[in-house]
Amino acid sequence: MTDRNDAGRIDLRDISIHLPGKVRFEALRQITTRIDGGEFISIIGPSGCGKSTLLNAVAGYLAPSGGQLRVDGEPVDGPGPDRGMVFQQNSLLPWRTALDNVAFGLKMSGVPRGERLSRAAEFLEFVGLKGFEDRYPAQLSGGMQQRVEIARVLINHPRVVLMDEPFGALDAQTRERMQQLLLDIWGRLRPTVLFVTHDIDEALILADRVLVMTHRPGQVREEIVVDLPRPRPEDIIVAPEFIALKKRCLALVQDEVRKSLIGGLEAARIELPVEA
Ligand SMILES: Nc1ncnc2c1ncn2[C@@H]1O[C@H](COP(=O)(O)OP(=O)(O)O)[C@@H](O)[C@H]1O
Ligand SMILES: [Mg+2]
Repeated sequence: MTDRNDAGRIDLRDISIHLPGKVRFEALRQITTRIDGGEFISIIGPSGCGKSTLLNAVAGYLAPSGGQLRVDGEPVDGPGPDRGMVFQQNSLLPWRTALDNVAFGLKMSGVPRGERLSRAAEFLEFVGLKGFEDRYPAQLSGGMQQRVEIARVLINHPRVVLMDEPFGALDAQTRERMQQLLLDIWGRLRPTVLFVTHDIDEALILADRVLVMTHRPGQVREEIVVDLPRPRPEDIIVAPEFIALKKRCLALVQDEVRKSLIGGLEAARIELPVEA
């Protein structure tokens, strides 16, 4: 668990994504941005604007229809252990213990069983789950399951961690604790993090920069630098600088939601049959 020396730089240039279907569906349009290695980026925007699609593209699950996508200068052409994804609904195997779930990721890389298990134990301890190695996912709380999920991703030493509303299903208190845990992990391992959330407070508490997306097809509406000192105290959310940033984010997102509603209404009107 060493410093990452700035690995994990992401370059998106004119990334467009069309999803297959009966009609060509434009999910993302010409996204261009550069993310430094070790940077923490939050992504917000109206629901359906393409946030998950963007993460899936960086993960390599989804090939862009146009543009260039590079991690550390290398074109992304499929999933890889250098990029780990944490979903809201975790991907733990219910019939495996916490330890086996975390160790499982290493099996593919051919690490011998003994070493897999000892490294898995180390990572479970890292996320504060020492003593829970033998529990099955159903025997763990939602927050604990997400910690196992995070350990499962971290064990591969990803340069990039992609998080798709990872704390969205947790209660407020657990969510706050998970945010602090994540910041602690990020501070120690320094992966690049792309963190999708619909919670503006959460976006600002965590990030170096917030990427605000437009309504569909998603484009980058604005990149907001969160120049708040770290570590950020719990009461940062009532600081005037924080509130100013929050107002800006809120105004942008609300404007995009409004535009998407108007767009939807107009589209519906066009589709109405013309009466003679
Ligand atoms: N497999 C698919 N086929 C067609 N449309 C899809 C598919 N998956 C998602 N979409 C649509 O693409 C848009 C972007 O989806 P998504 O990236 O999940 O948005 P977000 O995560 O911002 O809510 C949405 O309008 C969604 O309905
Ligand atoms: Mg989504």
